[in-house]
Amino acid sequence: MEDFDFENRIVSPTEIMGDSDSDNPLRPKTLDDYIGQERAKQNLAVFIEAAKQRNESLDHVLLYGPPGLGKTTLSGIIANELRVNLRITSGPAIEKPGDLAAILTNLNEGDVLFIDEIHRISRAVEEILYPAMEDFAIDIVTGKGQMAASYHLPLPHFTLVGATTRAGQLTAPLRDRFGVSLRLELYTPEQLARIVTRSASILNIPIETDGALEIASRSRGTPRIANRMLKRVRDFAQVMSDGIITLETAQTALERLEIDELGLDANDRRMLTAIVKFYRGGPVGLETLAAAIGEEAVTIEDVIEPYLMQIGFLNRTPRGRCITKAACLHMGFDLPDAQDGQIKFE
Ligand code: ADE
Repeated sequence: MEDFDFENRIVSPTEIMGDSDSDNPLRPKTLDDYIGQERAKQNLAVFIEAAKQRNESLDHVLLYGPPGLGKTTLSGIIANELRVNLRITSGPAIEKPGDLAAILTNLNEGDVLFIDEIHRISRAVEEILYPAMEDFAIDIVTGKGQMAASYHLPLPHFTLVGATTRAGQLTAPLRDRFGVSLRLELYTPEQLARIVTRSASILNIPIETDGALEIASRSRGTPRIANRMLKRVRDFAQVMSDGIITLETAQTALERLEIDELGLDANDRRMLTAIVKFYRGGPVGLETLAAAIGEEAVTIEDVIEPYLMQIGFLNRTPRGRCITKAACLHMGFDLPDAQDGQIKFE
């Protein structure tokens, strides 16, 4: 079985080298500059304004949704709008309870602490987080036996912004401690085109409207992919024509990068092909499919499937994954024999 490099493909929604630093100029700094996610944005604007009026710290915020949609960006905006500092860390980076205690005790009043992949913190760390979130205090035990002593350490009032790909991955007690819970959704091509146009203007890249829309419609609903694609298409435009991103240069570049009109790459096509070739279009269980294409089930679920479902290429049913007629047509598969009863399209 051939190995897939899901993580470093151009259409990977997870961060790859050279994508973004915290000082990435493409990251919007205010809610007004943040395109899309209207529902989350409007609610957040109210909560931020209310907290500011009361002179209180903002309630803890949980952001969930597929990777690459701007969770880190949004935490930066929250801190900026509140005029407080932002401290960024991630679940896997906090190895011991002491690591979290050190971070928490170094916060200033009102600061935002962003924990990415918060579902990956350990139980021991989670135990520290509960009283920190609820009572703004931590209890530290030092020494053993007769030498043991416990300290109750008050913390500044801070706002925890937690990010995860699925809210269901969190333990219930942790989830319950977030006052605000916002689901981020995949962007429409029109929203992505606005993001691409904004990014191009910041990077001084000349781009035509239909060039931006072409990049947008191949970016799988994900700004991180759109911005990465913009940079690669710019390279083609610069070397192969006059540097202006037109519809034609965008199409040529993306063809060369093997990204089709809908943003599917070789790996998506391999998965759809496997469903048809090995499982007659489905239903096929997630674990079975994962084994068949040599990928982890969570990667399929969090990274590959959301977009395929958004464009109506895949259905999740109680009995497993099913390919749709639209996917078969796009992929050029023979439509399954309606009489054979194996594949039923909804
Ligand atoms: N860059 C990444 N996400 C963005 C968004 N939602 N709006 C504007 N620029 C972005």
